[in-house]
Amino acid sequence: MSVNIKADILNDAFNVFNDASKKLERQYALLEERIDELNREIAEKNRTMERTRRLTAMGEMAARIAHEIRNPLASIAIFASILERDLDGDSDKKRLASHITKGVKTLDNVVSNMLLFVGSPVAHLNSLDIRDIIDDAIALTGGHDKKGVKVNASFEGQTIIPGDQGLLKQLFLNLFINSFDAMDEGGLLSVRTSVSNPTDGFLWIEVKDDGAGIPKDLLDRIFDPFFSTKERGTGLGLAIVSSIVTAHKGFVDVKSGVGSGTTFVICLPLESEL
Ligand SMILES: Nc1ncnc2c1ncn2[C@@H]1O[C@H](COP(=O)(O)OP(=O)(O)OP(=O)(O)O)[C@@H](O)[C@H]1O
Ligand SMILES: [Mg+2]
Repeated sequence: MSVNIKADILNDAFNVFNDASKKLERQYALLEERIDELNREIAEKNRTMERTRRLTAMGEMAARIAHEIRNPLASIAIFASILERDLDGDSDKKRLASHITKGVKTLDNVVSNMLLFVGSPVAHLNSLDIRDIIDDAIALTGGHDKKGVKVNASFEGQTIIPGDQGLLKQLFLNLFINSFDAMDEGGLLSVRTSVSNPTDGFLWIEVKDDGAGIPKDLLDRIFDPFFSTKERGTGLGLAIVSSIVTAHKGFVDVKSGVGSGTTFVICLPLESEL
């Protein structure tokens, strides 16, 4: 073999080696990029896990605080009602005492919503009359009721359904309070139950107000937790309504427009294996 041929072979081998090493370099660079990417993903996942851990701990703490608030709140409510009764002859002072009762009711509703939000409601079903639940919820709205706002309830057909008394009361309380809040100029809150089609197996409950209404672009967000247009709203009311309806295997719909009021329709199953 001549020296020239040997040099050619060596040259070719060198070129092949050069190409292979360049390819390896490129692959190594790609690998490095991928490792950086994975490291970033792991760091992000760790941050999310830490955030979730903190949120869970905060949720547990909120539930503990809510329970702690509940007991003294019940005592304050009892003493305030005794005080109101004792002040029967003094309307000014009685009015002041009634502020305590109203404040306690508001606080109790916030605490109840918070506890339900933290714990996801589970419905313990019993046979109940929806009329009693609605009447009780209307009575509980004291403090949110407004001058010039009338309440009307009507019940058609079957009113006995399987439901969780405490949860359903909380559901209607949230809807009614929202309606009162929306009717600064006065108006009518009307609650109507019916069994529109007995074969579909649902009790329809319509909660209708002729208050301010909800702008179209906000309608999609009203059931989101913490969405509120109110200065002091927690934005939990309708999120709780939605989770209570789901816990009863029902559904909820809303129609609203600025200036034309708001109508919520709640459908709850008429039958269930208790
Ligand atoms: N009947 C209604 N009329 C007009 N707007 C309503 C009505 N119900 C709900 N909304 C709108 O939906 C938003 C969310 O309601 P949601 O009950 O969840 O929270 P909130 O009432 O603001 O606060 P919270 O109930 O926790 O005190 C309200 O802030 C309000 O803008
Ligand atoms: Mg509300």
